[in-house]
Amino acid sequence: GKGIAVFTSGGDSQGMNAAVRAVVRMGIYLGCKVFFIKEGYQGMVDGGSNIVEANWSSVSSIIHKGGTVIGSARCKDFREREGRLKAAKNLLEKGITNLVVIGGDGSLTGANLFRQEWPSLLDELLNNGSITKEQREKYSHLHIAGLVGSIDNDFCGTDMTIGTDSALHRIIEAIDAIVSTAYSHQRTFIMEVMGRHCGYLAIVTALTSEADYVFCPEMPPPNDWPSKLCTKLEQERTAGQRLNIIIVAEGAIDREGQPITAEKVRQVVVDNLKQDTRITVLGHVQRGGSPSAFDRVLGCRMGAEAVMALMEATPETEACVVSLDGNQAVRLPLMECVEKTKAVAKAMADKQWDLAVKLRGRS
Ligand code: F6P
Repeated sequence: GKGIAVFTSGGDSQGMNAAVRAVVRMGIYLGCKVFFIKEGYQGMVDGGSNIVEANWSSVSSIIHKGGTVIGSARCKDFREREGRLKAAKNLLEKGITNLVVIGGDGSLTGANLFRQEWPSLLDELLNNGSITKEQREKYSHLHIAGLVGSIDNDFCGTDMTIGTDSALHRIIEAIDAIVSTAYSHQRTFIMEVMGRHCGYLAIVTALTSEADYVFCPEMPPPNDWPSKLCTKLEQERTAGQRLNIIIVAEGAIDREGQPITAEKVRQVVVDNLKQDTRITVLGHVQRGGSPSAFDRVLGCRMGAEAVMALMEATPETEACVVSLDGNQAVRLPLMECVEKTKAVAKAMADKQWDLAVKLRGRS
C-alpha cells in the first residue's frame, strides 16, 4: 500500500483531531501505511521517533479533544533547503510519498514548495549516497493534499476552515456571560476577538450577540467613527438598553491602516459618554476546548476526502486543498487558493477594501 503521512502545522484549531483520525482510518481502510508526523514540519526535519506508524486504535478517543494530539509547531528549519533535504530523507526511509498537511496558508504553501522541489532533493540525496537509484525512481513524486485548520476562516476557496465554528461557540458563550454582568451594572463592554487580519469571527459574533458596533479589518469605519459610535451607543441607552456591547477584531484598522484597539475604543466611549466601560480580551480561550459537532464532521469529511485525493493522484496531479463549497467537499488547486488568499492581504495593504471583501468571496 501507499505510504501516507499526516501532520498538523501552525496554530492549532478545534477539529484537527477529527481530521487526523479520518486520515488514519480512511488510509488504513484503503490498504495504506499511515504515519503520524509529530510536531509539524519540525518533526519531519528531525525524524526519528517523530515519524511513527499509526494504527486503527491510535486515533481512538481523540475526536472530542481540542487542539492537536500529534502536536504542532512553527518551524524555521523547514524554510531552509538543508532542513527540507533532511525531511525528504526521513520520509523516504519510511516509504512516504503522500502528505496530508493540516494547517493555515503558510503551512500549505510550504508543502507545495516542498512538492515542487522534491525531484531536486531526491537527486541530491542520490548524489550524496543517501538513497539508491531504485529509491530515486520508486519515490519520484510527492503528492500533497491540504486541509485548512484555523479558527480565523481566512482562507480563500473554502466556506469554513476547521475550527471556526468551535471558536464561535466559545466566543458566544463568553459574550452571553458578559451580557448578564453588563446588564446588572449598566456597563459597556468591549470584546476583542481573534482572527488575525480577517474579520469573520468579529462579524459573525456581532450579528449573533446583538452587538451595537463592530470593528473589522476588511471594512474600516469612516474617519468620524468616534462620533458615529457614540451616537449609536447613546441611542440604545435612550431607548432603554441597560448595556452596550462593542466587538473589536484583533486586526481592526482605520482607513489610514492604523490599528483600532479595544483601548482606543474605550477611551472614546469614556471621554465622550462617561459610560462605565470594561474591556475583555478573549484570547486563546477561543482556540481551546472541545470541537463542535460541525467541526468534528468537517474534520472527518475533509480527512477522508484528502486520502481519496491522494489515492487518485497521478504524477501530473497538482497539490490540492480540500474545501467546503456549499456543503460539498471539493478539491481545489492548492496554489490558486493560496494566491487568492495572498491577493486579499495585498488588497488590504493597498487600502482596496471593496476588493478585499470581494476576493474573500463571502457576502
Ligand atoms: O491563526 C490563529 C490565531 O489564533 C489568530 O487568530 C491569532 O492572531 C494568532 O493565531 C495567535 O497566535 P499565537 O497562538 O502564536 O499567539
